[in-house]
Amino acid sequence: MLIRKPADIPYSEVTPKSLYLRRREFIRTATGPAVAAAEALSPTGARAQGRPKLPHVRKSQFSTTEPLNDYGDVTGYNNFYEFGTDKEDPKANARHFTTRPWSIRVEGLVKAPATYDIDGFIKPYALEERIYRLRCVEGWSMVVPWVGFPLADLIKRLEPRPSAKFVEFTTLHDAQRMPGQRVPILQWPYVEGLRMDEAMNPLSILAVGVYGEALPNQNGAPLRLVVPWKYGFKGIKSIVRIRFTDRQPRTSWEIATPHEYGFYANVNPNVDHPRWSQATERRLGEFRRRKTEMFNGYGQQVASMYSGMDLRKNF
Ligand code: MTE
Repeated sequence: MLIRKPADIPYSEVTPKSLYLRRREFIRTATGPAVAAAEALSPTGARAQGRPKLPHVRKSQFSTTEPLNDYGDVTGYNNFYEFGTDKEDPKANARHFTTRPWSIRVEGLVKAPATYDIDGFIKPYALEERIYRLRCVEGWSMVVPWVGFPLADLIKRLEPRPSAKFVEFTTLHDAQRMPGQRVPILQWPYVEGLRMDEAMNPLSILAVGVYGEALPNQNGAPLRLVVPWKYGFKGIKSIVRIRFTDRQPRTSWEIATPHEYGFYANVNPNVDHPRWSQATERRLGEFRRRKTEMFNGYGQQVASMYSGMDLRKNF
């Protein structure tokens, strides 16, 4: 992302000084009173491993058969700026983040706007394991066994109005519980969005787990989006609001640096990031760089949604 270093270029080239200084400010803020307060609030202590097992998880035809990244990579190397900007920060700083009670607000152009308790909200849906490639815009990738359900199933049940053309997702906004939000790295809360046909595509899921267990906090508990043909930043974490709208949502990274991050964010080896190439990637756990595939290898299922669009302009 904006302030991360892709493996192939020097740090000094990718990090504007102002952001680097803000990052230092973050470290000062988040490792001081914030963390101490979070620890004090959590008498039950850390849940380092052994998250609750998710029952009745079906296999999916959409899963890749490539080797999985190990649990340590998937849950220990994360981007979740609400909990810090280093890859190890989310695991450490989200340890005591509480995700119950948790409400989800559904609003906008939909039959019945309402607020739901998370457990009732996800109960109607059959859980599937979806083993997907995750390609981060920074140039690394992983293979992750998500557990979730099709976003299309949820949307059909919610009955958006015909005038709804986009779905917007918003992360929790609570700087007490998410210390990274005390630092203006992004405009908080984190916002993401999809066009309605993208949201209805069978590959788009809402994830509640990983490796057969409930999502660890650092991966976006209790509910996060996974859209495998797009760069990882579309996969918004810890969602509290889903809004149906007729206007293209303004997303966090687009607001932060519009010439670098667009609304579509489809994985595209032919369109470079202004500061680095997107032609190759490094799979976590490997040394070699491999070629990045168009739409992250999911072209067969998604390319038709973009026919006739200029993907250089709509990046
Ligand atoms: N969601 C929120 N709310 N905040 C974030 O900083 N980072 C994004 C995305 N979702 C982010 C977020 C980025 S850049 C990536 S690559 C993925 O989460 C990483 O997901 P993972 O840590 O579960 O692998």
